Amino acid sequence: MSDSRLRQTVDLIARYYDGYKVGYVGHEGYRKSTDLVKFARCIDEMVSLGLVDPNRSLFLDLGCADGRVNVLMSYFVKISVGIEIDPEILAEYNPRKKELGQELRRANLIQPINNITLFQGNSLEAATYEQIESTLNLRFEDIDIFYTYITLHDLFGAKIAAEAKPKALYLVYGFNKILPRYRGLELLIPNLASEGIVALYGKGSFDWVP
Ligand SMILES: C[S@@+](CC[C@H](N)C(=O)[O-])C[C@H]1O[C@@H](n2cnc3c(N)ncnc32)[C@H](O)[C@@H]1O
Repeated sequence: MSDSRLRQTVDLIARYYDGYKVGYVGHEGYRKSTDLVKFARCIDEMVSLGLVDPNRSLFLDLGCADGRVNVLMSYFVKISVGIEIDPEILAEYNPRKKELGQELRRANLIQPINNITLFQGNSLEAATYEQIESTLNLRFEDIDIFYTYITLHDLFGAKIAAEAKPKALYLVYGFNKILPRYRGLELLIPNLASEGIVALYGKGSFDWVP
């Protein structure tokens, strides 16, 4: 993130959403919110390593809640897609993004990029991906970077290993010392940006592993 206006924008977004952090075990699934300050540092490192490209990368948050990670990622990827199973949680996306937009405008910062689409559905069901394909002409096997905050990380890992394209990346937020392993995925960076919270996996073999 070399551009200082972009950096200020990301800082404001992180502060805004971190003011609405949630942590509970709901009946529809396990919900907690990504710490966007830490996550932004991890994305910074991925940008430095050339692993994220605003002109090319296709991003999917497999349990996106209010879409906060999608909003932040919109500045760094070509398409930012999210899936959320709980319609009430997903309904937080629009009012929150609107309020954020007002704060960004007041501070003369950059509005979220118009590349975000969130879907209500189950990330493990084919019908969800049929809806995404018919709306965006985008398939699971087109995605470059998958994301989850612990939720169903093992089932998502298995789905990525089985169905994603070779070299697809999988960011898992929420583990620190003891990291899970997924059959068919390589642990590329155990501790992104030394934040102690995000591990990066990849499908297949990689020659650049640090
Ligand atoms: C831990 S929260 C993370 C939210 C957001 N990605 C973040 O990092 O702030 C996980 C979200 O995944 C949703 N979820 C759980 N199971 C799901 C599934 N099978 N498909 C889609 N979303 C799911 C939950 O309702 C919850 O909102």
